[in-house]
Amino acid sequence: MTDRLTIRRPDDWHLHLRDGAMLSAVAPHTARDFGRALIMPNLVPPVTDMTAALAYRQRIQNATKGFDFTPYMALYLTEDTSPETIRAAAADDAVIAVKLYPAGATTNSASGVRHIDSVMPALEAMAETGLPLAIHGEVTTDSVDIFDREKHFIDEVLDPLRQRLPQLRVVMEHITTEDAAHYVSSSDTGLAATITVHHLMITRNHILAGGIRPHYYCLPVAKRSRHRDALIAAAVSGDPRYFMGTDSAPHTDHAKLSPCGCAGMFTAPVAMACLAEVFSGQGHLDRLEGFASVFGANFYGFSPSEQTITLRRHDTPVPVTPIIEADGDQVTVFDPMTPVHWSVEVEAEKKA
Ligand code: NCD
Ligand code: ZN
Ligand code: ZN
Repeated sequence: MTDRLTIRRPDDWHLHLRDGAMLSAVAPHTARDFGRALIMPNLVPPVTDMTAALAYRQRIQNATKGFDFTPYMALYLTEDTSPETIRAAAADDAVIAVKLYPAGATTNSASGVRHIDSVMPALEAMAETGLPLAIHGEVTTDSVDIFDREKHFIDEVLDPLRQRLPQLRVVMEHITTEDAAHYVSSSDTGLAATITVHHLMITRNHILAGGIRPHYYCLPVAKRSRHRDALIAAAVSGDPRYFMGTDSAPHTDHAKLSPCGCAGMFTAPVAMACLAEVFSGQGHLDRLEGFASVFGANFYGFSPSEQTITLRRHDTPVPVTPIIEADGDQVTVFDPMTPVHWSVEVEAEKKA
């Protein structure tokens, strides 16, 4: 059994770092293991233009001083986003994607898109300039069951959009269904998907069986095991259209454990250890590097990192710190409810 695995330094192509005290508390957990990340723009107010994006980027750089970490930004698409804003973003190396939130679909999405027709001029500018569109792919229609919202989005919004604008490069973020995996696998060009670590590990039972567990609630909501298995198959397939975006999305325990709790899981501190557990469980540690460190970089036009990290396998499960302090409250770290035998080796261990 391999007990050490050295891979190129991974990247996180879907990450929430928040702002202020929360940013300072959570960002080092990502910067320790990851070389680059695509930072989600769903702040309040949202990051809708270059001025806001560059200022936020600077705050992230301040919060990750001393780490070898580069944040890249996604602009938040609204019905007021102009083609000029898109062209300015495409011309600046700091911004590498535009994020589409259907209005009301998820955390801080109220400024998102109600009608796709209203954003066509912006999307056309993206198709022209090659700036990718990252999509939270769920419909928000009340009558559509929450477990079916991703599939409805593919059929009713995404596929028609891709037919209308075939040049548009699209990333379906945090896919959760076999329908999405099938859609990506059967597409020809211009479509990729991120997969989170938690959706490779949990099903809806984690949220609902044996008591309700708000820490496992995120959007898109975890589905039944058949879907998790399809995501695992996609992640370990070696198909470069699938790459890791953790969607690590910290909320305080106060915000999670409320009568209307927030969606999102804080996975950054354990993401690489959990991912190694999944890939080793499938007998595919050899494909971890592609998924975590190569395919996403290539999609966004970067070279994979020249640096490395080493993952180490332990005979006994590795305990993790379950909670961090932030914002005068606590943030609970993702616990996959299954033993994790891996850790990211720190410099001191390497020398030992
Ligand atoms: C994210 C958040 O909290 O910002 N929550 C989540 O459940 N994934 C938003 C998102 O990525 O949809
Ligand atoms: Zn989302
Ligand atoms: Zn997210």
